[in-house]
Amino acid sequence: MSNLLTPPLKWAGGKRWLTPILQDVWSQHQSRRLVEPFAGGLAVALTLNPKTALLNDTNPHLINFYQQINQGLKVTKRLSNSSDYFYRRRQEFNDKIRRNDFLTEDAAQLFYFLNRTGYNGLCRFNNSGLFNVPFGRYKKINYRQDFDEFSGTFKHWDFKNVDFAELNIESDDFLYLDPPYDSEFTKYCKKDFTWDDQVRLVEWLADKDGPIISSNQATDRVLSLYRQHGFQIALLKAPRMISCNGDRKPAVEMFAWKNMDIQLKPCKFLLEQL
Ligand SMILES: C[S@@+](CC[C@H](N)C(=O)[O-])C[C@H]1O[C@@H](n2cnc3c(N)ncnc32)[C@H](O)[C@@H]1O
Repeated sequence: MSNLLTPPLKWAGGKRWLTPILQDVWSQHQSRRLVEPFAGGLAVALTLNPKTALLNDTNPHLINFYQQINQGLKVTKRLSNSSDYFYRRRQEFNDKIRRNDFLTEDAAQLFYFLNRTGYNGLCRFNNSGLFNVPFGRYKKINYRQDFDEFSGTFKHWDFKNVDFAELNIESDDFLYLDPPYDSEFTKYCKKDFTWDDQVRLVEWLADKDGPIISSNQATDRVLSLYRQHGFQIALLKAPRMISCNGDRKPAVEMFAWKNMDIQLKPCKFLLEQL
C-alpha cells in the first residue's frame, strides 16, 4: 500500500473510495491481467497495481495523455491558475480538436492543464465536440511538471481508446467495469452512454469466463439487468458522487460480480449483500 501513486488527473466518478473493497477481492487474483474497459482516471488500476493491465476508455484525450506519459511527457508550457490564461489555453486546445490534431504531446500538456484548472476536473464537450468546461476557481493547484514516477508502472500496461465491445478479453482476465452511471447525466464524452449501452455491456459480458466486477448506480433497472444475467449483488453507500455536471450527491452503488465467490467484509460502505 505504501508507495501507491496518486492519479495524475481529476476524474468524475473516480472510484478511489471503492478500492479497499476491490483490493480485498483482487488479492486472490493478483497474477491475472486487470482489464478496465472504462478506466477513467485510473484510481482503481493505480491502487490494485497489477503487473499487466489493459486499460481502455473512449475519451481520446485521456488515453493520449496516458500514452504521452509513457513516452516521457514533460509539461513545458506555463501552468497558471488564472481565468484569462485558462480560457486562452482552452481555445488553443479546441483549435487542435477542430484541426483533428489532438493526439500529440502538446495536446496532452494542454489537457493536463485544463483538467487540473477547470471546474471539478470535468471533461465535457459541446455538440461540436469542443471542450466547454469553465474555469475552476481553485485557491491553489499543485501542478506536476513531469510524470516520471508513473513511467515504470505504465510501461507494463496497455492503453486503448475504443468502445468497450472492441476489446479482446482473455479467459483468465480479471475485469473491473465502471461504466458511466445509469442516470440522466451521462455526457462524459461527445456521445451519451444510453440505456441501450448499459444493456449491450451486460450482454457483452455474458460469454466471459474470468472473474468480473461491475459497479453502477443502483437503479431498479440496473439491479434487475445484472440479476437477470446471473450476477450476485451487494449494495454500497457511495460517500458522494460527482456526476458529469458537477453535482455531488450521496448515492447507493451496485457492486455486482460473477464467476467467483465473494463474501464482502463488513465496512462503512456496505449496506447489504443481496
Ligand atoms: C465512471 S467513469 C470511470 C471512472 C474510473 N473508474 C475512475 O476511477 O476514475 C466512466 C468512463 O467511461 C468512459 N466511456 C464512456 N463510454 C464508453 C464506451 N462506450 N467504451 C469505453 N469507455 C467509455 C468515459 O470516458 C469515462 O471515463
